[in-house]
Amino acid sequence: MKQNTAYSLLLKLLPPSLTHQMADSSLSLYSKVIKNKKPPEWSPVKWKDLYFPNPIAPAGGVDKSAKHIKAWWALGAGFIEIGTVTPLPQKKNPGPTIKRNYKKQALWNHLGFPGNGMESVKKKLTKLQNFRPTPIFANIGKNRTTENNKAETDYLKCITCLHPHVDAFVINISSPNTKELGNLSQPQRLKTLLQAIKEKLYSFEKYKPFFIKWSPDMEESEFLQSLNIALECGAEGHIICNTTKQREKDNIFPEYGGVSGAPLAAISKERLALVQKHLGTERKKQLLISVGGILNPEDVFERLNLGADLVQTYSALVFQGPFFLKKVSRN
Ligand SMILES: Cc1cc2nc3c(=O)[nH]c(=O)nc-3n(C[C@H](O)[C@H](O)[C@H](O)COP(=O)(O)O)c2cc1C
Repeated sequence: MKQNTAYSLLLKLLPPSLTHQMADSSLSLYSKVIKNKKPPEWSPVKWKDLYFPNPIAPAGGVDKSAKHIKAWWALGAGFIEIGTVTPLPQKKNPGPTIKRNYKKQALWNHLGFPGNGMESVKKKLTKLQNFRPTPIFANIGKNRTTENNKAETDYLKCITCLHPHVDAFVINISSPNTKELGNLSQPQRLKTLLQAIKEKLYSFEKYKPFFIKWSPDMEESEFLQSLNIALECGAEGHIICNTTKQREKDNIFPEYGGVSGAPLAAISKERLALVQKHLGTERKKQLLISVGGILNPEDVFERLNLGADLVQTYSALVFQGPFFLKKVSRN
């Protein structure tokens, strides 16, 4: 049986939570046993002092606690985004948390930032000090028990803890699975959060940039207001976009939680175009990362042609398997 056929059969037969756990354990083990292996170099990207040997990576949430970094390099990642990392370890949300629709190439999740917490992530990153073939970003968020009006504290704790070990921060204000997190992206609320983050980042001897991970669900004019605020506060990159709360007519997933994969492709591309248009002459200074509905190598090149500097995928790693990144490099 061909590897691809066996893989899709496994996906169809086993429940998503089990395959998710199996993938996590296998990648952790692979990361422990693999020798240092650099990812392939193709279409490299240089941005400020960061060098990306190729433009594709696993999306935020794939390696929440920095357990698989060496495996992803060996599997072809041109950069790494760990997290979402929270200050304290926390479990996933109660109830069902992962579903998939193979026919529609769609995923649904209601995980809510499960992970081992920032101290554990710091330990993992410390071990990689001597082998860093690509940039590493830390995607950071707040614990679900932290009130929204105290959210700054959590983001600042993560920055303080991880600053020496990462090249940039991704500020996650868009997961639909942490209650009211999305409110942080409202223009006035965002300003307070990002000003605190900027101030903290400037307090270190070496400044590290920060990017915003945006929701596809913000109403367009509010999104553009928030984008302006992010730029004023010094954001230098944009990850477009997180999972959506919107549902297609024939949706079979629960109404809560976030959907990704094929149903997200159109809005993700639309928002990428909108951001580029809005940035105008500022576009060149910013790093734009497109994610959402990238399911095959053609989609990767389409996003790059649409103007993304870098791309990420979660869905393709589920539906096509962990060798997807290498497959793209051979195209
Ligand atoms: C199971 C799952 C967990 C995710 N966890 C996170 C997360 O912790 N942080 C984050 O910023 N995005 C998270 N995401 C969103 C992805 O990074 C990505 O933005 C979204 O899935 C769209 O990409 P895709 O269409 O390739 O799946 C998660 C997505 C899925 C499917």
